[in-house]
Amino acid sequence: MGFVLPSPGGRHEQWDAEAFFATGRRSIETILTHLATYHHGPDRSVALDFGCGPGRLTQALADCFAQVYGVDVAPSMLTAARALNRHGDRCRYLLNQTDDLRAFADGSVDFVVSDIVLQHLRPPCALGYVREMLRVLRKRGILVFFLPGRRVRRGWAPFVIATYNRIRYGAYTTLNYGVDPSEVAKALEAGGGRLLERSGTLPLDRGQQFPGRRPGVLERVWRGATLVLTDQFEGWIYVVERDGSPA
Ligand SMILES: C[S@@+](CC[C@H](N)C(=O)[O-])C[C@H]1O[C@@H](n2cnc3c(N)ncnc32)[C@H](O)[C@@H]1O
Repeated sequence: MGFVLPSPGGRHEQWDAEAFFATGRRSIETILTHLATYHHGPDRSVALDFGCGPGRLTQALADCFAQVYGVDVAPSMLTAARALNRHGDRCRYLLNQTDDLRAFADGSVDFVVSDIVLQHLRPPCALGYVREMLRVLRKRGILVFFLPGRRVRRGWAPFVIATYNRIRYGAYTTLNYGVDPSEVAKALEAGGGRLLERSGTLPLDRGQQFPGRRPGVLERVWRGATLVLTDQFEGWIYVVERDGSPA
């Protein structure tokens, strides 16, 4: 779980499963309440969690939707998710290692969520998945996803890591990508999506609310160094409605 969210008490502390899944419940509650208050709530038949990890949000969705799918590229994440599933067949985890969502028919899902996933992907790939998430949505279905925008501060860590990966594995990689909101808007329009809102403040719970133990000096130095060394991006949450003719 520490691969998904930093743990409450710092990087050396393990997540407690109950606390980890509680962050997912709070995030889904925040999203659904926000939708009902400012837009409209999705139908509660089918939901999809793209990049589900161990199922933090998928499990919370299963409290609210009749059938839920969690999709991830990593078999290890799905093994953990299946072991932690509390909802039986109403919650199914699927491995997806293609650059589309071919397991899902057009217009077959009411609600799609994807949090802290797309920033790992190169922009054309991230936008391709956004179009796919729109394709699988029913008319008036809702898509909520996190995708960073402009890089506001450039650090050294991605450069060091990319160099290491280049030498060690012969491949360039980086930690995070952002996509300019105007590019996202074009992809949404092309995919039949209507942007309801782009929020920089929707308070999704990614574990920050847990103060945990007071970190030691080394831990604080590490956190400070990480902040300085790591790229900083604008953080956007997009709320999109599926427009156009129903599939
Ligand atoms: C930081 S975790 C977030 C997990 C979950 N969304 C959450 O909020 O708890 C990112 C997840 O995205 C998954 N991921 C990365 N690239 C993906 C892709 N192309 N397709 C599906 N999942 C992907 C990773 O395997 C990982 O489980």
